[in-house]
Amino acid sequence: MSEPLVNILDLHLSLVGGAGAVNILRGINLSISKGETVSVLGPSGAGKTTLLMALSGLEKATSGQVQVAGVNLTTINEDDLARFRREHVGVVFQSFHLIPTMTALENVSLPLEFSGCVNPAEQAEEALRNVGLGDRIDHFPGELSGGEQQRVALARAFVVRPALLLADEPTGNLDRETGRIVMNLLFDLQQEHGTTLVLVTHDEILASRCQRSVRMIDGCLREDNGVVS
Ligand SMILES: Nc1ncnc2c1ncn2[C@@H]1O[C@H](COP(=O)(O)OP(=O)(O)OP(=O)(O)O)[C@@H](O)[C@H]1O
Ligand SMILES: [Mg+2]
Repeated sequence: MSEPLVNILDLHLSLVGGAGAVNILRGINLSISKGETVSVLGPSGAGKTTLLMALSGLEKATSGQVQVAGVNLTTINEDDLARFRREHVGVVFQSFHLIPTMTALENVSLPLEFSGCVNPAEQAEEALRNVGLGDRIDHFPGELSGGEQQRVALARAFVVRPALLLADEPTGNLDRETGRIVMNLLFDLQQEHGTTLVLVTHDEILASRCQRSVRMIDGCLREDNGVVS
């Protein structure tokens, strides 16, 4: 097996809400190889989104270690963390999260601009053509269908060639057929770029398209073959 891109060791993560602290992740261990595709299944509230937040560095571990692309997310400072996210991680959400006041082209250009790319608009246009939206580049998100918005989000996530793509129920707001088209596109882009993928989904069939499935239950992970981590 190739070297791991993701290495999580005994990760605990608690968040303090209005009703006090909640122990969300309770001792997660997970290693993911470069280019591997892993689905995360599990009931609502189990901690799946929180795990993705920890992997993107948006939430800090309470204890334990999260290493991605050789970067230890538990010890780096905020500036390095922001750079890490820009350079290594793409995220696709259930509700698309496009910036409503920006066109499709501007949305996809944004991460390229942050990364100091010299011709962001050109590259963004090509990325949009690759997801079949060459004729929609000047549309605002509100002028696009749900499936089209998610394709813009895919173009935006992949345009900087992240090593790690995190997808949180990316078809949750789409009808079955549109969801299928979006996921075919996601897996095509993943294969083309050799991206490591962590896909959170409630859809067992979609999960089975990944090389490996893990299940989160009450803040703990188990491999879908029954091995407890
Ligand atoms: N900021 C927060 N403060 C306190 N508790 C939180 C916070 N965010 C999430 N939680 C709690 O953490 C638990 C896990 O939430 P999370 O969003 O990770 O679940 P999930 O597995 O993604 O669920 P779903 O399938 O519904 O999206 C939930 O019980 C939730 O109420
Ligand atoms: Mg969630």
